[in-house]
Amino acid sequence: METQIEQLRVEALACIATASDAAALKGARIRFLGKTGAVSLLSEGMRNLPKEERPLMGKLLNELRTAVSVALQEKESTITMQADADALSSIDATLPGTAAEPGSLHPLTLLVDRAVQIFRRLGFAIAEGPDIETEWHCFDALNTPADHPARNDQDTFYFSDGRLLRTHTSSIQIRTMVHHAPPLRIIAPGAAYRRDEVDATHLAQFNQMEGLYVAPKVTLADLKGTIEFFFNELFGPDTEIRFRPHFFPFTEPSYEIDLRAEALGGKWMELAGCGMVHPSVFEAVNKKRSDAAYDPEKISGFAFGFGLDRLAMNLTGISDIRMLSENDIRFLARFST
Ligand code: PHE
Repeated sequence: METQIEQLRVEALACIATASDAAALKGARIRFLGKTGAVSLLSEGMRNLPKEERPLMGKLLNELRTAVSVALQEKESTITMQADADALSSIDATLPGTAAEPGSLHPLTLLVDRAVQIFRRLGFAIAEGPDIETEWHCFDALNTPADHPARNDQDTFYFSDGRLLRTHTSSIQIRTMVHHAPPLRIIAPGAAYRRDEVDATHLAQFNQMEGLYVAPKVTLADLKGTIEFFFNELFGPDTEIRFRPHFFPFTEPSYEIDLRAEALGGKWMELAGCGMVHPSVFEAVNKKRSDAAYDPEKISGFAFGFGLDRLAMNLTGISDIRMLSENDIRFLARFST
């Protein structure tokens, strides 16, 4: 039996040594160490041996089993390492990788940042308000009567509880005055919504920047001076500005602002609404605050609101407003800084 063990050892080790892949190695494991494999069969032969020979043969069989297991294990790691090396050999580690494109700021964000910086220098702080507004903040407090077309549900997005997506950022004027006593000087960039058919010049969501300055003795001259300074800083000293009388329920007198600048293509464009805050607006705020902080006899103020999207379009030279919201990386990348 000793010879049989020795023969099997030689045979097994040779078989393992020549196995060239994982499948061949698996076959060798089954053939020698499997339940009905060669080593097990030989172990069964122990029963026929005289008792005194059994311990020695048992020991030799155990050694055989260990030797075969070790050889299998070593060969297995050799095969795995070889497979890894083969897989890697087809990769050129010196090739440049795929670079992740750095992001950049959206043209609208760049515009808002510049506008905010200019107003900061004039002492304006940033104010905020919710996009989902109450009718009171969006209309009633802004002296906008119930039959005003802006309140029509054909023109505005209403929720079932009566709230709506704000149709202008002017609601932020109200929110700020309700919470802060004068004097105050704020700008409020933000989204506004109207039920417009989406086309090359309209989106149902657009962007505005609101401004409000309330203090004793604020005059129309302050409004014009502020607006002119702002647009000259933003678009250069060649910028021409025109104030056209207009109507807004919440300002009196009211104006629309037209603008012509080389940076905007050199054509006149209608840009903003503005005016002196209507006394009724102050009264509505006082009522909500239950004080007389905004006494129209003692304080006055101006407000303005302009659309940012058309400015961004003219600055970037695009003719379709939808490009501002489509997030096409080819368009956005042109304006990366
Ligand atoms: N809220 C007005 C609009 O959206 C603009 C405006 C703001 C007018 C402030 C006057 C004062 O058209």
